[in-house]
Amino acid sequence: MLKDFSLPLAFYNRDTWLKVAFFAVSVVMAGFSLYFTDGLVTKLEEREKQQIELYAETIRYALTSDNNADINFFFERIKKINENNTIPVIWKDGSGHLNSINIPIQESLPTEQKQEILQQKLLEIVAENNKPIEMDMGFQKEYIYYGNSKLLKLLRYYPLSQLLVVLIIGFLGYIFLSYSRRAEQNRVWVGLAKETAHQLGTPLSSLTAWVELLRNEPHINPDIVVELSKDIQRLETITTRFSNIGSTPVLKLEDIEAVIQSFISYLKIRISSKVTIEIHSSLAANQTANLNKYLFEWVIENICKNGVDAMGGHGQLRIELKEGKNNVIHIDISDTGKGILPSNTSKIFSPGFSTKKRGWGLGLTLAKRIIENYHQGKLILKATEINKGSTFRITLPKPA
Ligand SMILES: Nc1ncnc2c1ncn2[C@@H]1O[C@H](COP(=O)(O)OP(=O)(O)OP(=O)(O)O)[C@@H](O)[C@H]1O
Ligand SMILES: [Mg+2]
Repeated sequence: MLKDFSLPLAFYNRDTWLKVAFFAVSVVMAGFSLYFTDGLVTKLEEREKQQIELYAETIRYALTSDNNADINFFFERIKKINENNTIPVIWKDGSGHLNSINIPIQESLPTEQKQEILQQKLLEIVAENNKPIEMDMGFQKEYIYYGNSKLLKLLRYYPLSQLLVVLIIGFLGYIFLSYSRRAEQNRVWVGLAKETAHQLGTPLSSLTAWVELLRNEPHINPDIVVELSKDIQRLETITTRFSNIGSTPVLKLEDIEAVIQSFISYLKIRISSKVTIEIHSSLAANQTANLNKYLFEWVIENICKNGVDAMGGHGQLRIELKEGKNNVIHIDISDTGKGILPSNTSKIFSPGFSTKKRGWGLGLTLAKRIIENYHQGKLILKATEINKGSTFRITLPKPA
């Protein structure tokens, strides 16, 4: 169930609308352009056919008329117009000889070879599927074959190139929107974290001063002061975490097992005593990793607390450290809890997704962000089984 986490959800809604609008505009544009080009192609086809018909009529007249002087002039004019249109034309004259226009053929070749080339071209033209135009010569029928002009061929491919352009624009738009959404989210995260650290800082330093004053008061129970100091320490840890996430966090080479051991001993006393936590490591002794300790501890805390919640405060947490292929360190955190429904596994890292009454659905989002953006690592749900448990895996690069 998604919580009322209005800020990021507002981003998603706006983004989804923008993407839908973008897609719809692209489809309308592509559809309109296809329709328009299709109309143009049909008109051009019709015109080319009429031209060839006129041409055929002239040839027929030339071949059957005695008045050759007049007709030759007319014939040459039409030939000129057709040359400009680049429609390839082939026809057979009364003696079976092939004639052509707009078919590139070397003039110097012997007639026989030219005829062979034309025969070959004729087959290609026939394959273009234009119905040949019949010329009724009175004593017999002749046919004039024609292909498509360069313009018509280009126009046929034009919609494809347009579709490609629309697809490329759509793809770039999608990347841009996703990038701007991420950038916007980043600004919100970082801004909120910075502001929280800043707001907490002032009352904390004044609290520390007050505790110091109380420490020196003889009639105050020293146990109270110790408890107060612990709470202040906890608040300081939170402030440090927020201020680290609100700026570019500094990474340091840390003994990874030692960091986890020390944090787990701190965490153990703060969770149900019916939860046991085991740590197993097959890493080399003192294996280091580049860490921001405060943020890394936050990740471990979020994953462990989720495990504790899933077990209803009763069960076993196991942390296993081992080497992986390609110079990485794996930290597998397993619980014996209720597991995650298959329909939810893809949602658990989304901000605002929670199945808990009091959950904000932020823990795993934050943990993933810390591991992937600040530690160049990976955080995944490695395995889960209903009523058996789940395993989350953190992968960190081994230092060079
Ligand atoms: N170990 C786990 N076992 C079972 N379900 C889990 C486990 N870890 C996470 N989940 C599921 O993923 C959801 C999201 O976890 P996430 O830590 O992001 O938020 P949350 O724990 O609900 O709230 P928050 O951490 O903000 O207090 C949880 O509500 C739960 O449904
Ligand atoms: Mg959580």
